Amino acid sequence: MSVHGKPRIVTTHVLNEMKLRGEKISMLTAYDYSMARIVDQAGIDVILVGDSASNVMAGHKSTLPITLDQMIYHAQSVVRAAKRALVVVDMPFGAYQGNSKEAVSSAIRIMKETGAQAVKMEGGEEIIESMHRILSAGIPVMGHLGLTPQSIHKFGTYVVRAKEEAEAKKLVEDAKLLEKTGCFSIVLEKIPAKLAKEVTDNSKIPMIGIGAGADVDGQVLVLHDMLGITQDFSPRFLRRYHNLFAEISGSVEAYVEDVKEQRFPNEKEQY
Ligand code: KIV
Repeated sequence: MSVHGKPRIVTTHVLNEMKLRGEKISMLTAYDYSMARIVDQAGIDVILVGDSASNVMAGHKSTLPITLDQMIYHAQSVVRAAKRALVVVDMPFGAYQGNSKEAVSSAIRIMKETGAQAVKMEGGEEIIESMHRILSAGIPVMGHLGLTPQSIHKFGTYVVRAKEEAEAKKLVEDAKLLEKTGCFSIVLEKIPAKLAKEVTDNSKIPMIGIGAGADVDGQVLVLHDMLGITQDFSPRFLRRYHNLFAEISGSVEAYVEDVKEQRFPNEKEQY
């Protein structure tokens, strides 16, 4: 059975096949059941339960505060809704950086308690031991290089990464290392399009870009950004498909007015 002519269940293997035949991969975030249901039914290939939930759902200034328990709660809701898409869950800050034993326990908790199909981890060579252990436990890992928001206090800014030669060289080496270690895919965030193309052309695993240009194997955006629910985030790479903030607030204003003016409920809307 297929949805929009695509395979019903997206697996890491299916993503690899898509790269081989040049079919672009679509990925969006979701953090709850209702949104994940819409996104899945609309034919998305990958749903990322991103730690951007820390900003978007909880109102924090960064992705650092969200906890493993909170990520698991979001992921459980998304997995209940996803019938076709591959569900990838972000490992939150502090769940894998310090100690590879703790890293594998965190990843096992995510897989056991949520039913998701993979985890995502930010960083290259510096987290390779944790990544290796998680992969050895049979858990698929998506990497994340370039602008890695969990390291925002190290970068000090959300500007484009890897513009300088040394950082670009490290990114190329990290991408090779992640592929060799066994990651099934890598997110490339906010790096020059030329560098993203070079990394993509030289890898066998799919590269998913966000602010990394068109010459990658797929694209990811934060759902609330592309729907125009969030208002104060407008990087150049973001295409807004809607202004849901205005639509929702218009509906709420109309409801408030109807209640105040006693136009709601009417006779047909009562028992
Ligand atoms: O947490 C997130 O939403 C992400 C995407 C920006 C790739 O990591």
